[in-house]
Amino acid sequence: MRFDIITIFPGFFASVFEYGIVKRAQAAGLVEIHLHDLRRWTSDRHRTVDDRPFGGGDGMVLKPEPIFAAVEELTGAGRRTDLPARTRVVLLSPQGKPLTQALAAELAASANRLVVICGRYEGVDERVAEALATDEVSIGDYVLSGGEPAAVVLVDAVVRLLPGALGSATSAAHESFAAGVLDCPHYTRPAEFRGLRVPEVLVSGHHARVAAWRRKEALRKTWRNRPDLLERAPLSDEDRRLLEEIRREEQSA
Ligand code: ADE
Repeated sequence: MRFDIITIFPGFFASVFEYGIVKRAQAAGLVEIHLHDLRRWTSDRHRTVDDRPFGGGDGMVLKPEPIFAAVEELTGAGRRTDLPARTRVVLLSPQGKPLTQALAAELAASANRLVVICGRYEGVDERVAEALATDEVSIGDYVLSGGEPAAVVLVDAVVRLLPGALGSATSAAHESFAAGVLDCPHYTRPAEFRGLRVPEVLVSGHHARVAAWRRKEALRKTWRNRPDLLERAPLSDEDRRLLEEIRREEQSA
């Protein structure tokens, strides 16, 4: 997978991709990350990337010309309809569709090239979203001062899903969201720390009871922190019974 990140702050990314799985995936040749300074595609003396909004108002808007020129040079296409197969152009903005595990998985499985446009200032000329980007993506319901931190999040979420990027081929399948609920709690040694004990069942060595405990505690975590997920999660009859139990336990706690 090749990433091309278009930004007015290429220096922002100086060391973020030099850690952990993203670093290893690059070293293994699974991933290439290329940074591009948007100002390279400006043509005026001041290397202007933004301008005042039509219709008035505060703030500046990123101009379309440098962004279109950048994507055109990088992909050969100046319109999303002309892009090569397996190439996606992602515009990061708070107006985008949410970045979910499902979207990250879809990108990891179907693209081999991601061009990532980091928005800035008050916005990006809408023609980028209309005609150039294949996807407008937000990493959450809050406003960042630019798309750069969101680009880091997107790259990380996609890279770790590429075949061969994780140590164990199965580890991504078990985590939060993979099954529509949050991951269960995890513990390691010592079994007692400052008076806090690891749940007895986990040290019992009883595999079936450990599995049942993990499912129940995953459901409890989800019920407490993300009850919205339970409306869409695929739940068995046993899960529903566990949720009833959890509700009773949490009321009496
Ligand atoms: N740029 C500013 N806020 C953002 C967000 N929440 N997601 C993606 N890009 C952004």
